[in-house]
Amino acid sequence: MTMARQEGDPPAGEERCARNDRLSSTPHDIRCFHPRKGNVAGARRFARPGFYTPRPGPFVPLHPMPTALQPCESLGLLVQCRPGFEPDASLELEAAARAARLEGKADTQPQSGFVVFALDTPQPHGDVRRRLDLSRLIFCRQGFLVVAVLDALPERDRLTPLRTAIAASGERFSALLLETPDTNDGKEQSGFLRRFGPLLEEALAQDGLLRPDSPHLPRLHVFLEGARRAWIGLSVASEGSPWPMGIPRLRMPKDAPSRSTLKLAEAILTLLTPDEQKTTLRPGLAAVDLGAAPGGWSWQLASRGLRVTAIDNGPLAPSAIATGLIDHLKVDGFTWKPKKPVEWMVCDMVEQPSRIAPLMAEWVASGRCRRSIFNLKLPMKRRYEEIERCRALIDQRMRAGNIKYILRIKHLYHDREEVTCYLTRR
Ligand SMILES: C[S@@+](CC[C@H](N)C(=O)[O-])C[C@H]1O[C@@H](n2cnc3c(N)ncnc32)[C@H](O)[C@@H]1O
Repeated sequence: MTMARQEGDPPAGEERCARNDRLSSTPHDIRCFHPRKGNVAGARRFARPGFYTPRPGPFVPLHPMPTALQPCESLGLLVQCRPGFEPDASLELEAAARAARLEGKADTQPQSGFVVFALDTPQPHGDVRRRLDLSRLIFCRQGFLVVAVLDALPERDRLTPLRTAIAASGERFSALLLETPDTNDGKEQSGFLRRFGPLLEEALAQDGLLRPDSPHLPRLHVFLEGARRAWIGLSVASEGSPWPMGIPRLRMPKDAPSRSTLKLAEAILTLLTPDEQKTTLRPGLAAVDLGAAPGGWSWQLASRGLRVTAIDNGPLAPSAIATGLIDHLKVDGFTWKPKKPVEWMVCDMVEQPSRIAPLMAEWVASGRCRRSIFNLKLPMKRRYEEIERCRALIDQRMRAGNIKYILRIKHLYHDREEVTCYLTRR
């Protein structure tokens, strides 16, 4: 998924720094985002009341972020996840950073809904982005490169320090994503976000920092952790989710047999490029749905004009049958095979992931289907390890057939104790 590029745009992955020199005379010194290890006194010297006060808050990274001295540099990465999945998001982020040779440490709090990877030294955004692609992280619903952390925001005026720090980042932005963790505390801030968003947007537009007509610019993230701490960062469209907090606002279709239909709708939007969506979900194409009842996924495919064979011993809802495009077979999804190859096989059977993964690989490798979207139901613990085990099982089958393949895995907003995968031949 790439951004539309225009003539004169900077090379992919690199944004222009639009350093705003007027800001050097702002009352707040932006060098005190966060103390360098052992440099707290220095940070205090620069701090102004209500801007950065190094004191314990609800979430203080154990591994403090270094001071940012240059514009166009990242202090770290912030990944938003489903609350309760922080250990998995953290493990995955650390593994990705290790592979990318980014020195630093991941840090999180239980049930906080996010993880921060603090870099040991600030790195140019382009370097971080080239080495670590946030869009590939399974447990990352939304992610961005951190450019500033503001602490002890004054509740009566959060606009001024935010505006100052955003300007001091030296960047211009195509859009504002005002976000909170997806927790009960975060949800309590939604009223404030609705009022504050337009104010901040207007202020940034006045400062010349928000350019909605320049989609090649990065998006600005302002992530409010409680009322007094803000993480400021940026992402390009190809690395973060298009939706604030990575939460798609999908409306439940009134005829759909189950809410589960939204999961497949989100998977299609998230795991397939717009081009793949257009070419592979065309009316008349054939699909199989393993573990189909009551029919939410089958209905989703039928609503796009596909002809579906729904496999399940359980009954389908009348609204699924009423589409006229779904054939129901009461057989076992592990042994049934189609007579002719199909474009799609989707699978939502509740089964051990280590049984599902080889079955999916077999369908794609043997050519029974060209592509598949399926769920892996995860254990309560060591979920990341379980996914890696399934990935290895799929890889084993594909290697045996000498098959090049694409496997994308995501913990979607509509997923609970499961992840959703897309598998196809390359
Ligand atoms: C979570 S539900 C599927 C919901 C469905 N995707 C929807 O959107 O309505 C899981 C289904 O898998 C079916 N299932 C489990 N094991 C199966 C098997 N071996 N063969 C066929 N169906 C199976 C169950 O009967 C159950 O209806």
